Amino acid sequence: MPSKPLPSKPLPSKPLPSNPSPAKASPAKLGIYHVLLPTDIPTLPLNEFAGSVLEGLSERPKRLSSRYLYDDRGSGLFRQIMTLEEYYPTRCEAEIIEAHGPAIAARFAGTPVNLVDLGAGDGAKTVRLLHQLQAAGADVTYVPIDISEQALRTACETLAGELPGLPVKGLVAEYIAALHWLTANDDGRVNLVLFLGSNIGNFNRAQARTFLRQLWSALNPGDYVLTGFDLKKDIDLLLAAYNDAKGVTAAFNMNLLNRINRELGGHFDLDKFRHYSTYDVFTGAMESYLVSMEKQTVAIDTLHSNFHFDAWEPIHTEYSYKYLESDIRSLADSTGFAIADTLHDSKRWFADSLWRVVKTISGGGVAL
Ligand code: TRP
Repeated sequence: MPSKPLPSKPLPSKPLPSNPSPAKASPAKLGIYHVLLPTDIPTLPLNEFAGSVLEGLSERPKRLSSRYLYDDRGSGLFRQIMTLEEYYPTRCEAEIIEAHGPAIAARFAGTPVNLVDLGAGDGAKTVRLLHQLQAAGADVTYVPIDISEQALRTACETLAGELPGLPVKGLVAEYIAALHWLTANDDGRVNLVLFLGSNIGNFNRAQARTFLRQLWSALNPGDYVLTGFDLKKDIDLLLAAYNDAKGVTAAFNMNLLNRINRELGGHFDLDKFRHYSTYDVFTGAMESYLVSMEKQTVAIDTLHSNFHFDAWEPIHTEYSYKYLESDIRSLADSTGFAIADTLHDSKRWFADSLWRVVKTISGGGVAL
């Protein structure tokens, strides 16, 4: 990477109060400070991963962030999960889009609309919606947003293959920053933001509310958000979905240890850990863990560290929060949205809720 000169500013100098005679003072020594912009810093994904692993395994209870589940192997395993008999969310949501997509699309007939995609994971649903919007006579531009340029390029190429001639405007950025940019460079188009799958489920209640309020702030009045919510249901169905008979979910979760071995010189013996997912009825979350089946010490070379595990000590890897219909309503109310429609699959196991951004002159204050 070519080195750019760093933007520098002299430190603001103040007269020193202890100096008895300012007239004779030698000139103040000026320090230099650097303002590093994100663009001045090369991205170091390895260091970010290493830092997160070191922090998480140093905590009690130990944890690893679920965002690192999705390397190439993990993404492949997740695609396999989506086809499993027990993993109902993908099928339920596909059914919702198939059955109710045309009604959603009809709202945008003759309207210039940006279909803004916040990491759908499964591009098939997005493709269906784009077809439905075009069939309804909407003038649609596809706007995928991803922090990874590679992932964004793949999303754009897949779509270009499926819908030749569709205008595509990909943005490489954090979701909220990209949305602010999009509305600041407003071209009068209505934004329909997709946050499908179990994405919102990875947030706890407070994080979900914060994220949706940030979306609301970034969007224009009259814009829409379509969010996927996995609903509370028979606990046996939930448990089966995260403990499938073929062990694909176990392999997906265990891949996190594989990834540490591959990328950080970890020495995890996968035979000494097991996948475990359980449902907490009180918080309403599926929780996934990797459990050490014996007392052991694991070295991670890149971190120059050893990590000790007691027999049956867990590492937490992910939460997937499940919703009641009343949770969805209060979440919309408390973040400044009006629910336009909530769409269900025939078993009512999953919901896609379409929300419209409402901004009143008083600023859209919401009750706490
Ligand atoms: N967050 C997704 C979900 O809740 C992905 C997922 C499915 C997952 N099974 C898992 C994450 C098991 C960790 C462990 O459906």
